[in-house]
Amino acid sequence: MIKSSFAVVEPHGSQVTAHFYRHLFEHNPQVRGLFAEHLDEQQDRLWAAVGALVTHLEDTETLVGILRDLGRRHAGYGAVPEHFPAVGASLLAALEHFAGDAWTPEAAESWTAVYGVVAGTMGEAMAEAVPSAPSA
Ligand code: HEM
Repeated sequence: MIKSSFAVVEPHGSQVTAHFYRHLFEHNPQVRGLFAEHLDEQQDRLWAAVGALVTHLEDTETLVGILRDLGRRHAGYGAVPEHFPAVGASLLAALEHFAGDAWTPEAAESWTAVYGVVAGTMGEAMAEAVPSAPSA
């Protein structure tokens, strides 16, 4: 489900991440200040991370390593666990927008489940990186 819907979305590349950031900042203007003014490079990195996630979906050890590193770095970006639902909603909205007919209820369910694991794993490493954070 994840791989087949991502195959439809992937060719749209930076349009997907542009849609994601527009959606995120429109619905959560308070997080705009955490990001650099120009998002071009950031968009490429986010897209590479989502691609890596899909590539390593069945390789749990590699995937968890990537997500924990990403989570630790996010502690330094000012991200907090409370941000994850908003980011997930915008990411799924962007995928849905470009997936067309491939966005079936099963695809939506699969992405929601994967995002839950991603946010949980990143969030854990984020909390460990900032022992004084309220969620730790
Ligand atoms: C599935 C969840 C997420 C993924 C895959 C993701 C991915 C990334 C990637 C790949 C980068 C580039 C820098 C790096 O590799 O360390 C990045 C930077 C960043 N992310 Fe995330 N992220 C996620 C969730 C979040 C959340 C919940 C927030 C909170 C608002 C957030 C805020 C940021 C910020 C502020 C930066 C730095 C941007 C800059 O320097 O302008 N991210 N993210």
